[in-house]
Amino acid sequence: MRGFFMLSTEEIIAEVAHQMKQKFSGEETGHDWYHIERVWKNAKLISANEECDPFIVELGALLHDVADHKFVEDFEKETNERVNQILSALNVSSDAIEQVLHIVHNCSFKGGIGENKMKSIEGLIVQDADRLDAIGAIGIARTFAFGGKFGNMIYDPEVLPVDFQSEDQYRKTRTHTINHFYEKLLKLKQLMNTTTGKSLAEKRHQYMEEFLKQFYGEWEGKF
Ligand code: ADP
Ligand code: NI
Repeated sequence: MRGFFMLSTEEIIAEVAHQMKQKFSGEETGHDWYHIERVWKNAKLISANEECDPFIVELGALLHDVADHKFVEDFEKETNERVNQILSALNVSSDAIEQVLHIVHNCSFKGGIGENKMKSIEGLIVQDADRLDAIGAIGIARTFAFGGKFGNMIYDPEVLPVDFQSEDQYRKTRTHTINHFYEKLLKLKQLMNTTTGKSLAEKRHQYMEEFLKQFYGEWEGKF
């Protein structure tokens, strides 16, 4: 922090981006800085077509993975502390911090069970931006990177996907990575919130369908 009392919104965004880059460079579970940067870009793209507060969208996108429920003991508490710490040091208003916290608390897929708790348009945009990065070519790469990191097999035809009934069950079940396509990735297209998000998801979804077709074909030695 450079110690200016009143920063412009551009300066605040640049500073938050800088801090996130420092903190998340080299992270290996799918939430590295470049994931954050892609979500930030996607969010800006989507927000150009929506009536929204771009400052909240950009802060939400940059901070959406500041704490990961898989790795912290108390996700709510960690999220509140980290977001408050970063933004209040930059003199962001408490109203804006509240809006950002709503986004960060509710962004994650968590098995896609029950109603979407994200209520603000800014949050719906960030959620779409994050979901776009979980599908398509990038999504495929991230999902196999995640599977490898956690020691999962790429595929086992004897182990079928699970129709999860709770967030806890979604979090605790670890099978092979192909199952993750059915348990999450292929569901995301239907869950997109914005028109722009939906149309971007369409192409990425088709690409995953193609990938799976090719994968099973090669698995069977058909081509
Ligand atoms: P979210 O925050 O939306 O719940 P995660 O933090 O669980 O997403 O996932 C981060 C990345 O790792 C995503 O690309 C996601 O699809 C992938 N991933 C999550 N769980 C698994 C899994 N069981 N197998 C393979 N990839 C996974
Ligand atoms: Ni994310």
